[in-house]
Amino acid sequence: MKSWKRVAALTLAVSAAAAGALGGTLIYLGWYDVSATKPHTIAVHHLMDVALARSVQAHSANVVVPDLDGPGRIQNGSRLYRAHCAQCHGGPGVAPQPYALGLNPAPAALVATARQRSAAEVFWITRQGIKMTGMPAWQYRLTDTEIWDVVAFLRVLPTLSPAQYQEGDDGQRPAAPAPAPAEHARVGDARAGRDALQQYLCVTCHAIPGVPGAWNYVGPSLAGVGGRPYIAGVLNNTPANMQQWLRAPGAIKPGTAMPDLGVTEQDARDIAAFLRTLSD
Ligand code: HEC
Ligand code: HEC
Repeated sequence: MKSWKRVAALTLAVSAAAAGALGGTLIYLGWYDVSATKPHTIAVHHLMDVALARSVQAHSANVVVPDLDGPGRIQNGSRLYRAHCAQCHGGPGVAPQPYALGLNPAPAALVATARQRSAAEVFWITRQGIKMTGMPAWQYRLTDTEIWDVVAFLRVLPTLSPAQYQEGDDGQRPAAPAPAPAEHARVGDARAGRDALQQYLCVTCHAIPGVPGAWNYVGPSLAGVGGRPYIAGVLNNTPANMQQWLRAPGAIKPGTAMPDLGVTEQDARDIAAFLRTLSD
């Protein structure tokens, strides 16, 4: 081996060992923050997205997709979706349950997933679950036929309006808005608002510049939202109106696909303060 190559190899090995030792020490000292309220950095988020995408692609490559248009499939899938999935993933105009809002990573809005992923991939994820997230494996709870029924329903989910989705309602109700705690009101804090975006699943539906995981288009991109004249095309874009929109979009624009997420008054003030910073 040429001597420069040996030096390069040695330098790489020593740097890798040093990085590993440093990482290990930081973890051992308890400096790594495992709390669900602390978002991952953009880099870690991207890495996890790539790992998930590649793993799912590789493992679902040999899945054989059956006829998804068979009789009763979509109806049965709709029933199973409401019974087992909507609690975490929500539906058009329907928010997930409060416990699901606190998950990190946040459960995706499946209207977006159904467009982005193939039927084989959705089947594989639903059957196997995803490690280190709140996504359960359904293999031992649902038969393969039932999982395919859910996949068949997910294919039509993006075509359902909030009214159509809620018509087929069989017990699943929108989460009641959480009562605003009587805490000391303070002015909106943009930093706190940025953290709250993760906890109310805003990131699963909107593209928001600089926010990890927020690269979804179920709703409009929030880039430049602070500089727009109207909110959702119906309200003047003032801080007070923005808070109102965030707390009760359905009351302001009946039939909107943005669900009522039970945002508290203070969190709405903080998020509105953050959204003001998004003008370009
Ligand atoms: C306890 C909460 C919970 C339940 C119940 C749940 N999921 Fe999930 N799901 C998650 C979380 C958390 C993730 C991982 C984050 C992400 O990528 O969305 C996830 C991810 C997924 C994904 C991949 C999304 C993507 O775009 O990467 C699919 C597909 C999915 N779930 C389908 C289902 C189906 C179908 C059901 C019902 C049979 C279901 N989930 C029930 C929490 C849940
Ligand atoms: C389930 C998906 C979903 C979630 C979760 C969600 N939104 Fe939305 N959002 C939408 C959709 C769809 C619209 C378009 C509404 C319309 O025009 O009727 C929208 C509209 C908006 C608008 C108006 C944008 C404009 O161009 O006028 C803002 C601001 C907004 N959302 C912020 C948020 C924030 C902040 C959160 C978290 C508290 C959030 N959204 C959570 C789907 C969602």
